[in-house]
Amino acid sequence: MTKTSLQFSFYTILFLLLFSQANSQLINEQEQAILLNLKKHWKNPQPLSQWTSSNSSHCTWPNITCNTDGSVTGISLQNMNITGTVPPFICDLKNLTTLDLSFNYMTSNGFPTALYNCSKLQYLDLSQNYFAGTVPNDIHQMARLRQLNIGANSFSGNIPPSIGRLTELRILQLFLIQFNGSFPPEIGNLSNLEVLELGAMTNITTTLPSEFTKLRKLKYLWVASSNLVGKIPDSIGEMAALEHLDLSMNNLSGNIPSGLFMLKNLSIVYLYKNKLSGEIPRVVEALNIDVLDLSENSLTGSIPDDFGRLTKLSGLSLYSNQLSGKIPDSIGRLPGLINFKLFNNKFSGTLSQDFGRYSMLELFQVASNYGLIGELPKHLGDNGRLLRVAAFDNNLNGELPKSLGNCNNLTFLDVHNNRFFGNVPSGLWTLLHLGILILSHNSFTGELPERLPRNLSRLEMSHNRFSGEISAGVSSAKNLVFLDASNNLLNGVIPQELTALPHLTTLLLDRNRLSGSLPSNILSWKSLNVLNLSRNAISGQIPEKFGSLPVLTVLDVSENQLFGEIPPELGLLTLNSLNLSSNHLTGRIPSAFENGAYANSFLNNTRLCANSPSLNIAKCDSKPQNSSKTLSKLVPWILGFVIPAALLGLVASFLVIRIYRKRKHGLDLTWELTSFQMLNFRESDILPGLTDNNVIGSGGSGKVYRVAINSSLKIVAVKKIWNNKRQEEKLEKEFLAEVKTLGSIRHFNIVNLLCCISSTHNSKLLVYEYLENRSLDLWLHGKSTTRASTGSGSVQHVVLDWPKRLQIAVGAARGLSYMHHDCSPPIVHRDVKSSNILLDYEFNAKIADFGLAKMLMKEGESATMSAFAGSFGYIAPEYAHTTRVSEKSDVYSFGVILLELATGRKACDGDENTSLAEWAWRRFQEGGPLVDALDEEVKELRYLDEMCCVFQLGIICTGILPSTRPSMKEVLKILLRWNQPPVFGEQNTAGE
Ligand SMILES: *[C@@H]1O[C@H](CO)[C@@H](O)[C@H](O)[C@H]1NC(C)=O
Ligand SMILES: *[C@@H]1O[C@H](CO)[C@@H](O)[C@H](O)[C@H]1NC(C)=O
Repeated sequence: MTKTSLQFSFYTILFLLLFSQANSQLINEQEQAILLNLKKHWKNPQPLSQWTSSNSSHCTWPNITCNTDGSVTGISLQNMNITGTVPPFICDLKNLTTLDLSFNYMTSNGFPTALYNCSKLQYLDLSQNYFAGTVPNDIHQMARLRQLNIGANSFSGNIPPSIGRLTELRILQLFLIQFNGSFPPEIGNLSNLEVLELGAMTNITTTLPSEFTKLRKLKYLWVASSNLVGKIPDSIGEMAALEHLDLSMNNLSGNIPSGLFMLKNLSIVYLYKNKLSGEIPRVVEALNIDVLDLSENSLTGSIPDDFGRLTKLSGLSLYSNQLSGKIPDSIGRLPGLINFKLFNNKFSGTLSQDFGRYSMLELFQVASNYGLIGELPKHLGDNGRLLRVAAFDNNLNGELPKSLGNCNNLTFLDVHNNRFFGNVPSGLWTLLHLGILILSHNSFTGELPERLPRNLSRLEMSHNRFSGEISAGVSSAKNLVFLDASNNLLNGVIPQELTALPHLTTLLLDRNRLSGSLPSNILSWKSLNVLNLSRNAISGQIPEKFGSLPVLTVLDVSENQLFGEIPPELGLLTLNSLNLSSNHLTGRIPSAFENGAYANSFLNNTRLCANSPSLNIAKCDSKPQNSSKTLSKLVPWILGFVIPAALLGLVASFLVIRIYRKRKHGLDLTWELTSFQMLNFRESDILPGLTDNNVIGSGGSGKVYRVAINSSLKIVAVKKIWNNKRQEEKLEKEFLAEVKTLGSIRHFNIVNLLCCISSTHNSKLLVYEYLENRSLDLWLHGKSTTRASTGSGSVQHVVLDWPKRLQIAVGAARGLSYMHHDCSPPIVHRDVKSSNILLDYEFNAKIADFGLAKMLMKEGESATMSAFAGSFGYIAPEYAHTTRVSEKSDVYSFGVILLELATGRKACDGDENTSLAEWAWRRFQEGGPLVDALDEEVKELRYLDEMCCVFQLGIICTGILPSTRPSMKEVLKILLRWNQPPVFGEQNTAGE
């Protein structure tokens, strides 16, 4: 090489170096400007506040990654409260390879095709936003994509087939989108794909294209709840890399292809809730299976013997099929087995005695097979890990294994309807967590223990041979709700301690040998609905206190030795069923019961008489007897209340029957559960709880039930929306609005929607968290509401003190303020009222019932109301004149709640037909002492200042002109001045 040429190349390199340095500095400045523009385009969201043009390089900004040249390669803005669109200039970042905008509030009309210009983009995550419109068929222009996630958005239309041309894709996630049509077979061309998520597409109806089985590198396939029909492709056995297969909750039919269990790497298989039939294939290669759930199908035949080779198996769910034969003993020896659920099949033969011996078994559920015989496995509880054992409805015998008494975590044991005998292992009676114990319909013997497990809520032991006395120690089970010990050999008296169970709703002790008299000090039976003591040898009189049991609806003390007169106070009960027959009662029947509804209530008491012939007993002498004085006092009451109540009772029992019939018809309805979080229950846990006994309220569109979920001892509130053909469309809309809004909100002061369940016949169930203290209106105005009839849920009239009221006001204000100011787009509730403010066990307020809430389309712009909403007394005056509502209408309604809290009056309770808001305004204008308007029941000197201020704040919030009302944020600020945030304060408000 010559010198000059050397020199030349030296200068060239120097020049190029300098040039490229200058160039890269220029690029860096440009890129910083682009990022700042982005921030501005998104209206400077708070989480991006550190993106500022100080002298520090943008490569040090949070959520930005650069290459070594200082050029931006990645933007990761997950969950940053970003609103707005994806601007085209984002692709001016020439080296952008990663873009994550998931979990924001971004919108679009169609897939943001501007991103096609990001020529290096490899990872794109737009999931969990509000992107809408279609995904165009030229999406393959993003040829370099290795990951595409657009799940949980509002896209519509079809899945574009050209997605199958993005052959670099490793990960494709299209879940929870309302696409129409079917799955394009072209997806099967994505030969590099490892993860494919197409679940929860509720609008699609499709087969699983057999082309998908060409995806030989696919490890993870999730297509749950996407209306899959047809068969599982036979060639599925060729997807050699498959580890996780979830096709659950679809309508797949036909056999499970035998190739499936040839897949060596398979570890999770979820095929539950389909219509699969035929036999379970033999396990050939798939020895790595960890969880296998084939439950709720129509599988037949027996469990293949080689299941005993699945040494990694921890969960086996085959329940609700038609499986039969003996359960292979080898399964009992699997070392990893934790959850074993085989109930509701036709299995027969004995159970391996090894269950529980070699593994840390937690669930053992073999109930309702009817054909299982022999003993429960002796070692079942050896490891002490058991949580739940269900073996009911079989033909099992022997004694319960002693090892069960070591299982300190055991919450549930149900062995009813078998042939067990002997004593219950004494260890069982001391298990701290045992909540439900069901032993009925066996031949158990022995006495009841000195004490019951502290957390026991349900004890069923009827139809056995238990004997001895009921010990005073029963009162140790303070949470007992249901006690059924009927048809045993119990004797002695009913201990006074049995009445010290404030949550007890049902007490059945009939058909025993109890003697002594009825307990008379029964005032803590506040929740008792049903009392059956019939067919014993109880003597003495019926105590008049029985008339003051607040929620008693069934009373049966027939076939005892009771004597004396029937206390007229019994007429105060609102009974559905009364049976006092076959005793030695005397005298005149209280006139409350002179009614055909009680025709069979008094039979076989030879010395009883009635005035009316409608009861099948002797007529009294016309001369009134000595009890007439009390009677005459009661007459107006009886006429005004008791008779209508009795009629109501009749009507109610009629309804129960009708509903029961309906349910029987409805059993083959299919229900679909859409959850918004991890749930430990299924719809089958909810549906049986929708009975009249569980109704706790009814709203504009349907009833609300309180349902205890046996499997988790959890209680939920279920709102059922009626299937009313005429209103269907309107209700459907209401329902969708509620689900969509609530499902997306997580806030401490907003009721948590757990899931929604819809049936093929348009019935809808919304499942919420259950709040122990129900709603604010019951506490403020509960005196005049109808009596609550559901056990522990009943509300006595206890006055809410002022600090609690203030705490409730603050909580509700937080919830509303969050919806108005922190949700994007903002959410207007439209039906704020005290019955929609629910209270948890610590009286934290949670706002409920977003049935009428609707997203405001654009910030600041009021949406048009499609229907008249709200409830009298809470409705802002602008509703009358205009169809436009805004957040300020909620502020008005909230002001009414503040007035309720301060005055104790109802929203509609001014005088002369005015509302509370008008009444308060007039009091205020008249200028008298405000103190006189405050609630007498909570007024205390130390609270007067606060109460007056809340009263005035209520007046300001209920100003006639929306513009004069403060925002919820301002209201919250004012309230917080007095309310030192207690434990539930700031740190929790972002939700749980
Ligand atoms: C964004 O940056 C913040 C601050 O460094 C960090 O806490 C957060 O995890 C980052 N988010 C993402 C999605 O990378
Ligand atoms: C988004 O907004 C909510 C509600 O204001 C807030 O709690 C949360 O911290 C915000 N997220 C970020 C990342 O700032």
